[in-house]
Amino acid sequence: MKKNIVANWKMHKTRQEGLSFLAALDHTEHVGVYIAPPFTLIQDMAEFVRGTSVRIGAQNMSGHNSGAFTGEISVTMLKDVGASFVILGHSERRNIFLESDEEIAAKVERAVCENIPFILCVGEDREEKNADETQEVIKNQLVTAFSSLTEKHLKNAQIAYEPVWAIGTGDVATPQIVDEVHMFIQEVLSEMFSRETALRTPILYGGSVKPENFSALVELKSVSGALIGGASLDVKLFNQMIKMIKD
Ligand code: PGA
Repeated sequence: MKKNIVANWKMHKTRQEGLSFLAALDHTEHVGVYIAPPFTLIQDMAEFVRGTSVRIGAQNMSGHNSGAFTGEISVTMLKDVGASFVILGHSERRNIFLESDEEIAAKVERAVCENIPFILCVGEDREEKNADETQEVIKNQLVTAFSSLTEKHLKNAQIAYEPVWAIGTGDVATPQIVDEVHMFIQEVLSEMFSRETALRTPILYGGSVKPENFSALVELKSVSGALIGGASLDVKLFNQMIKMIKD
């Protein structure tokens, strides 16, 4: 399976900075390169990469398609400006903006109905990890998010295991933890759908990924790539990680 590298820029960069990043990006078709800038950069960046294999997407979207939802962006609007994927259920959406599992399920359903590829983030926080609840938390997040889906709806889905305690902390999960949790996610997908779907659905790791720890994580068979925050803002570091997959 081709490995993917996903940049989550969070609330960073202007349009000019986004385009300069793309001008210096060293991508290859052998690696799936996905970039999720802030909404305001999507159109310009999508136009810039048109005709290449690089995909530009969004970090979030509404679970509604239109209406009186001040400050929200719908999937139709995202597609209109050239977004070709969306990240759903990021832990910052869950924890800072208090998105519930049910709201995330509505967004997943919307993405599926509108046929936009999505990356669902799941992961436990430090307290849950210390209480040995990782599997329970992740299973619950997956089961709720995918409750209304059938196997065919997962065709365009990826899952990102992002332990909250590893995001932006420099405290990366060990390859052993990542491998165990990724296999557990495959088990849950097998139970919910089928073994085939479980093996076909890419599972990414995210949380303090940088060139120093990248290879050990991404070379695991259970890891289909990485979702990167901080280290994805620097095009030199991002290029280095693309090259590590390519080589
Ligand atoms: P980080 O962020 O790489 O800065 O830890 C990852 C994420 O939030 O997706």
